[in-house]
Amino acid sequence: MAADRHAVIWTRAGVAPVKMGHLTVTDRQCRFTYEPDYLETGLPGLSVLYPTGFVGNNTLVWERTPYFDFQPQIQSLIPPASESNFQRRLILSYLEQQGRQPAPGFDSDWAILMMSGHGGIGHLDIFEDDSKASAWYNDAIPTPFFQVSDKFGLSLKEFLTWLDDDADSVLEALGPTPSVGGAIPKLLLSIPASGWDGRVALPRRQLSDDRTDIILKLEKETYPGIAALEALALEVHKEAGFETPRYWLTDINGIPAIAIERFDRTAHGKPIFTETLYSVMASGDRRITNHYSGTYDDIGRAFDRSPIPLVSHPAQSKQHLLKRLLLSFVTGNGDLHLENLSLRQFGDQIGFSPVYDPTPMRAYRKHDLMVSMSFGDYGAFGKGDSVINFSEALLHFSKNLGITRQTLRSTIETVLPLGEEFVHRMNQIESVPVENRKHLESTCRQMEQKLKLAVG
Ligand SMILES: Nc1ncnc2c1ncn2[C@@H]1O[C@H](COP(=O)(O)OP(=O)(O)OP(=O)(O)O)[C@@H](O)[C@H]1O
Ligand SMILES: [Mg+2]
Repeated sequence: MAADRHAVIWTRAGVAPVKMGHLTVTDRQCRFTYEPDYLETGLPGLSVLYPTGFVGNNTLVWERTPYFDFQPQIQSLIPPASESNFQRRLILSYLEQQGRQPAPGFDSDWAILMMSGHGGIGHLDIFEDDSKASAWYNDAIPTPFFQVSDKFGLSLKEFLTWLDDDADSVLEALGPTPSVGGAIPKLLLSIPASGWDGRVALPRRQLSDDRTDIILKLEKETYPGIAALEALALEVHKEAGFETPRYWLTDINGIPAIAIERFDRTAHGKPIFTETLYSVMASGDRRITNHYSGTYDDIGRAFDRSPIPLVSHPAQSKQHLLKRLLLSFVTGNGDLHLENLSLRQFGDQIGFSPVYDPTPMRAYRKHDLMVSMSFGDYGAFGKGDSVINFSEALLHFSKNLGITRQTLRSTIETVLPLGEEFVHRMNQIESVPVENRKHLESTCRQMEQKLKLAVG
């Protein structure tokens, strides 16, 4: 039996940093209670499914599972436990520098959460105690910009091949940076408000107009051209009418990279509530244990049926989901999983966040999956012995979303030329090896044919 652990949650989502509540983790449960004063602020709660008005003074009790030691929104602040996870290694090396070597598993997760569970994606800042929170917020003078190439040098390139020793120089340059989940090396930074010019600083901790917060994603050697592909996919999504963040393609000492503006910060740097669908769905359903659990139909169903509204306009959000899925088909992105879809709250409205990570992963054989979750019972047995084909599944899916055949048809018709354009422009990206381009082209064309068949 282990001793209970305690932490506090604060947020900068209001006029000044304010304590949201406190957390107690026992060997079986993670318990969260809002501060009575916080309930009066009208600020966003811990998660879409745990709004202050609903939870009130009650303690939210989360029974720990092998998948979630914490409420999923909190769990998402901890980079997943995998040997090669860049953020995790970064933080663990930093702790080691300070003479701390937490045991693998929950001890490490907890140390990482206390160390980097603030200033990350979204509006939650987690600290060991209130004095740590105050110290962090008080030490909020914007850091000066530095030229990225000066400090990163060769060492970052080496770090990308996961060499241990190089963590030091990265840490020296950046200090303990807050973390995001995922496998591709990413850093949260800020850049001048006017856009990327090669200078970076640590993310904002306070309001300031001279800079904007970004995620810097560095290209791994195993995915040649991925930064340019992500940029193109963002362009195509923008043309499709989706909101997309500003981005800049760049090169850091020979490593291609993409800097993407964060949509969870206002122009002044105030956090905006955001939550991935993985976190939302897992908060509501214990069967969701990874980011591809469940189906796209389940998402639509949750929008319609959740007793606590997940989105302000369910019909609109379901159309967004359908169009995103269709566009993912024709842009070779089989990676539209629950962590690549997020909700965001703006004022009193909540709906899908701007598009992020629409990367055409099918360009790389290892990720050549048509779709990460099922839709419309695709591939299942239908009537008699027949298997539900792509066209039937699309029809089922849109029916489940309450979308008419007519709208399905017109959405497919909107998406098809965008797929054409994507393929055309993708073929001009020289950093993607010819073989990958060819493969991606034929993949997208196949999907186009399937969609054409579906509209007959
Ligand atoms: N522009 C953005 N603004 C705010 N949050 C973002 C933004 N882009 C990504 N995020 C958050 O950061 C997380 C990780 O980013 P992203 O999905 O782009 O990279 P990744 O997960 O490493 O990619 P992959 O899943 O393909 O390995 C996302 O799940 C999302 O919560
Ligand atoms: Mg992702």
